[in-house]
Amino acid sequence: MNLERIFKRLWIDYVTQNPSAGKIYNLFLQEGEEVINDHIAFRTLDYPEINIDILAKPFLSNGYVAKGEYLFKEKHLFARHFESEKDLKVPRIFISQLILSECSQFIQDILKSASIKDDRPNYSSDKLIFSGSLFSPLSYQTYNKLRDESEYAAWFYVFGFRANHFTVSINALKTYNNISAVNELLKKNGFLLNDSGGEIKGTKADLLQQSSTLADKVTVKFVEGSFEVPCCYYEFAQRYPDANGKLYNGFVAKSADKIFESTNFYGKK
Ligand code: NI
Repeated sequence: MNLERIFKRLWIDYVTQNPSAGKIYNLFLQEGEEVINDHIAFRTLDYPEINIDILAKPFLSNGYVAKGEYLFKEKHLFARHFESEKDLKVPRIFISQLILSECSQFIQDILKSASIKDDRPNYSSDKLIFSGSLFSPLSYQTYNKLRDESEYAAWFYVFGFRANHFTVSINALKTYNNISAVNELLKKNGFLLNDSGGEIKGTKADLLQQSSTLADKVTVKFVEGSFEVPCCYYEFAQRYPDANGKLYNGFVAKSADKIFESTNFYGKK
């Protein structure tokens, strides 16, 4: 599948499920901006059948190469980012995976069925990134028990393979070309920002500053009934040049650590 089709399908799924993302995108257009994606992120588990290397395949076959690696010790996550060497205008791809050997037996037991390749034709196809949850039927009790230990595991259990977030490149905006201006625009229009670790993650010295909305809540059918749970969020990234004048292309682990929390379960705000 070519990149244009991959990104289009991911985007349609993403805005269909997360109305705020589509509204924010339209808000930027109304303000006369062109929206360019800084990066798109995915989540997975470290089973060899579905790990980062597998999820990266459709991007690797389209000219992307593996770049930075990141470890999130407390959240038991490992991540890698990919960049295209052919086309500098396409978004970076950020893929994280849960390190199951560091998780409880409960998490390992619940998620184990994802490692079984039988009857899952998507596992060997480049459609894997669109295939959603690997678990059925979903239990709300299990979701909450997963949350007690790992919000990441709980999110993956319900939503699985899809774009976890798209990210607006603030550098590519004309009027709103700094992160504070973007955050003000969003708040003025009633969108909720993730304020874990402050609204702006990272400093100019880190060469990357990020902010994000709180994930929209969507109604999900569980065996116990329908419940609202946070789905995907929209992120905003401003990059700065390094000492050699080259724009920083990587990520900052301590910022990403807080950005992950944009999908945490939250009460009414
Ligand atoms: Ni991100």
